Amino acid sequence: MKKIIVAIDGYSSCGKSTIAKALAKYAGYTYVDTGAMYRAIALFTLRNGLTDDAAIIAALPQIEVGFVLVDGAQHVTLNGEDVEGFIRTLEVGNAASRISQIKEVRAFLVAQQQKMGEAKGIVMDGRDIGTVVFPKAELKLFLTASPEVRAQRRYDELVEKGEKPDFEAVLADVNDRDYRDTHRAESPLRQAEDAIVVDNSSMTREEQMNVIYGLFDKAVNH
Ligand code: DC
Repeated sequence: MKKIIVAIDGYSSCGKSTIAKALAKYAGYTYVDTGAMYRAIALFTLRNGLTDDAAIIAALPQIEVGFVLVDGAQHVTLNGEDVEGFIRTLEVGNAASRISQIKEVRAFLVAQQQKMGEAKGIVMDGRDIGTVVFPKAELKLFLTASPEVRAQRRYDELVEKGEKPDFEAVLADVNDRDYRDTHRAESPLRQAEDAIVVDNSSMTREEQMNVIYGLFDKAVNH
């Protein structure tokens, strides 16, 4: 059966990674979470107190981002250290949103992501996968859900991690991040013309996966 590239883009907290992981398992493909790569670089800048763009750009040659499998789950690595446990916080998410506006940071990660897709058989999620990383991907999905639904999901995730978030603050953060992701000069989040939009505000996970598995089967047999 032919191998394809599946590009999944969309807003933060709309379940992209859960969907991408499930689809990768269904297809027997490699899953790549590009948000985790931006988060790993953000963690590096926070740990090293790098705030201005020039200092971050100068540090790129000292940064190596990769992935390891731990009990079947993909963990992101920063210079060989498994940093999965440090990158899913609001602080790192906000820093990731900021550093992802730097053209050189994007070029650095996009080149690695394109290499990962050379052999196809990959499901990659992010903000610019269908538009910049793989404009020729055979299947492009653009996921969306209302800001309130996404804020509730993020709120639940944070509570589960033992944090005590304020819902209004989480919602404001979702809206701020959407604004930054869609208004930045470099590769803003936008739907590729040939992407299929899936709004999952009122779909169960199962309903949504059935739709997506169907789209994948159709793309593979095309
Ligand atoms: O999907 P996420 O929340 O883990 O992404 C963290 C930040 O990284 C998000 O604010 C936007 C940025 N990002 C990006 O600019 N391009 C990508 N391909 C993936 C993430």
